[in-house]
Amino acid sequence: MLTLDTSKAKPFLQAGWKELLAEASVAETLLKDKTGPGHDFVGWLDLPEGYDKEEYARIKAAAERIREDSEVLVVIGIGGSYLGARAVMEALRPVIGVPLDGYPEVYFAGHQISATYMRALQKAIRGRKFSINVISKSGTTTEPAIAFRLLKRQLEEQLGKEEAARRIYATTDKARGALKKLAEQEGYECFVVPDDVGGRYSVLTAVGLLPLAAGGIDTDALLKGAADMRRRIQNAPGENPAVEYAALRNGLLRQGKLVEILANYEPGLHYVGEWWKQLYGESEGKDGKGIFPAAVDLTTDLHSMGQYIQDGNRILMETVICAEKSALPVLLEEEAEDLDGLNYLAGKTMDFVNESAMKGTMLAHLDGGVPVTRICLDEIDAYSLGELIYFFEYACGVSGYILGVNPFDQPGVESYKKNMFALLGKPGYEAAGEELRKRL
Ligand code: PA5
Repeated sequence: MLTLDTSKAKPFLQAGWKELLAEASVAETLLKDKTGPGHDFVGWLDLPEGYDKEEYARIKAAAERIREDSEVLVVIGIGGSYLGARAVMEALRPVIGVPLDGYPEVYFAGHQISATYMRALQKAIRGRKFSINVISKSGTTTEPAIAFRLLKRQLEEQLGKEEAARRIYATTDKARGALKKLAEQEGYECFVVPDDVGGRYSVLTAVGLLPLAAGGIDTDALLKGAADMRRRIQNAPGENPAVEYAALRNGLLRQGKLVEILANYEPGLHYVGEWWKQLYGESEGKDGKGIFPAAVDLTTDLHSMGQYIQDGNRILMETVICAEKSALPVLLEEEAEDLDGLNYLAGKTMDFVNESAMKGTMLAHLDGGVPVTRICLDEIDAYSLGELIYFFEYACGVSGYILGVNPFDQPGVESYKKNMFALLGKPGYEAAGEELRKRL
């Protein structure tokens, strides 16, 4: 069961913990009663148990088809339309590029506009049996639309239009958007991003579930973990780990801890950090407010960011994700000649070494004035990741309401899009384009 350890962070609080919890409980009421700003987008609250059963059965059937007829699945999407799937996929398939036995390799595309990346991907899948899952709630986002145009053509050239259409799966709005229109016209199987679920809260819909199921991830266990966390939260109103975490980080913010670093000690969790950054960055960073979310992979980044964390500007709080047990223990053995001086570790596991590094680092950071909160999972499996996802989403809603923002919109994301369209010469943006070019 996921546990939250706040004992090494609370001592940094000057404000009373009870008062902070009371504030968080008011914010939580706004979330669960669906009365706060953006309440039209809190459909994700009920997803783990209330997800459309028919849609889920279709997802599983499509995943099975992909597994049968494809060596590779290319998942096209950006932001909330790809980060959740990538986070869970990489946590559970941690050796980069190595698929689970009997399941396709999974590549991601459409999350940037790099020609170098596209060429390399096209080359990697040339002549191979591949399927595409294109994901865009709006159906109009430029990055995935460009990737889809290119990869769809490659698939059609390889298989012909009709067979290619059987291997393309579109996840989008149920009725609107260019992708929906195209999918209907070409006869692609469609999956729905529900109206009341925003991109960054959508991993437990077809957005995450289809690529994950196709990649061999146990989506039943993922949903069960989320459902159990939801029940736990519901059964302890005002006193649950998500509300505590939201209260704590806001209390620390008020004491000048402007940046939260999410740390992991498992490289497979790198994209959990990326997903979390998007969830909190887009949900809270508005109206001149918000905690800046950053992520570090440890111990790797102790050799790059460690100096700053220990000794730089004291604006940091740290949240560590730890796992109680590792699926694959590795034992260190004695060497006849102790040339590297490591025989003192003979008989110990790599987990023991990693855990000692984590404990030592935590104490060093505390001594350096960095409050450390720990989120402990039983192990890194689909169930625990489901718990973690729901925990972070719920806490994010509560935390956003404590901050006094709408955690479910992203008006700032539009600014770059408008400028990009204007500079690209998109019809309707001519005047804006002229203005921008003068400023370059
Ligand atoms: O969280 C969000 O809403 C965004 O990050 C979107 O997921 C992202 O911009 C992609 O949008 P779309 O799914 O419409 O292509």
